[in-house]
Amino acid sequence: MWEAPISATILERTHLKGPIEPSASSGAPPQSQIKSRERVRNLAEVYTHKREVDAMLDLVANMLPSAEDPQNTDRKFLEPACGSGNFLEEILRRKLAHVTVRRYGRGERYEQRTLRCVASIYGIDIKMDNVWEARARMRALINYHLDSDLNTQAVSPGFVSAVEVILSTNVIRADALAEAASIELVDYRPGPGGEFRRQWSYLDAEANGLDLFSVMVPCADEVPIHYSQLADHPDPVLQVNGLAPRGHAFVTGA
Ligand SMILES: C[S@@+](CC[C@H](N)C(=O)[O-])C[C@H]1O[C@@H](n2cnc3c(N)ncnc32)[C@H](O)[C@@H]1O
Repeated sequence: MWEAPISATILERTHLKGPIEPSASSGAPPQSQIKSRERVRNLAEVYTHKREVDAMLDLVANMLPSAEDPQNTDRKFLEPACGSGNFLEEILRRKLAHVTVRRYGRGERYEQRTLRCVASIYGIDIKMDNVWEARARMRALINYHLDSDLNTQAVSPGFVSAVEVILSTNVIRADALAEAASIELVDYRPGPGGEFRRQWSYLDAEANGLDLFSVMVPCADEVPIHYSQLADHPDPVLQVNGLAPRGHAFVTGA
């Protein structure tokens, strides 16, 4: 499954399980821009160099938090052929750089803000090994950020499970061309008190234009859900007893 080596060690930490250092800051040699000649031939798979990733993201600096606008963490990015996550990782790094204990304290606000950074980044790739790798790199980056900023303080178990849920809904395997009409995206709309309200929609490039979420599935949380509950409620949370849309299992908000 896993073809490209990630140089960091897999360790059990107080935070998430997985490699603890992101490739960008580990000092390791840069990853190759190709995995094999066959993949270049079959998938046009040539990864973007870090230098170009940085230059392209510099062009959309207003989409990312900055010293002047540190709370600008929720602008959405979609990479429909994300490869092993070169862009996803750097976008996340630029967002997380402004999530600090100093700004958000230690606890729910900090954890939710970190989740907001991840929840606003979407990646699709046709190869599952790329999806695993992109998720692993994002997980590793979060770990690195927590290690650097929270230091030895552990995050809550609900936060750890929420990261996994969000990575599994946002970084997915699909054919972004042939399956666009059936690819589901989840819009995680943040609310107060660590809550999110989720809205499901389909990726349909032609119909959507620049709006990722214009083709709505009639499917959303009727009541907000705390991030620590996301793993237990993969389906819409409804207010009253009844059948959930799309044949989803029923979940009450109580
Ligand atoms: C040129 S690479 C770019 C990867 C990444 N965006 C980057 O800049 O490093 C193209 C990627 O698109 C993926 N791909 C090819 N056809 C695809 C399709 N129909 N849907 C989704 N991904 C696809 C390949 O697996 C490959 O990883």
